[in-house]
Amino acid sequence: AVERTLSIVKPDAVAKNAIGDIYSRFEKAGLKIVAAKMLRLSREQAEGFYAEHKGRPFFPALVDFMTSGPVTVQVLEGEGAILKNRELMGATNPKEAEPGTIRADFAESIDANAVHGSDSEQSAVREIGFFFAASEICERA
Ligand code: CMP
Repeated sequence: AVERTLSIVKPDAVAKNAIGDIYSRFEKAGLKIVAAKMLRLSREQAEGFYAEHKGRPFFPALVDFMTSGPVTVQVLEGEGAILKNRELMGATNPKEAEPGTIRADFAESIDANAVHGSDSEQSAVREIGFFFAASEICERA
């Protein structure tokens, strides 16, 4: 089925000037960018976006990192987009990421791991709605 998923290029990958390389991987894999913006997350935004991780030991470091510099957030659309994006990203921990994945190529650590992608249809709906109004998502042929 054609799905939409929420993707973030995290502060480490933005700082490496890797936005274009990462967008190119999405496009070459047949995913279409149907919404996109750059912003610097506030602490409130980062805590709200990652609310499910509140209380985990890595939560404070995650919020610090995600607010450390600008990110890009984008909605990717395509056949099986949620899983396809996760395959492109590779494992959360770059030490476990398959060669050729975004995290194998750009991530430094499990915290500075270059990208985020929704992990289910339910989280995709929530995460897309967190950053984008329906009117900001474009219909593409
Ligand atoms: P992300 O997909 O953005 O979702 C939560 C983030 O928390 C994750 O990527 C990692 O960057 C970070 N994180 C740090 N430690 C862990 C951990 N032990 N398990 C899962 N996520 C972690």
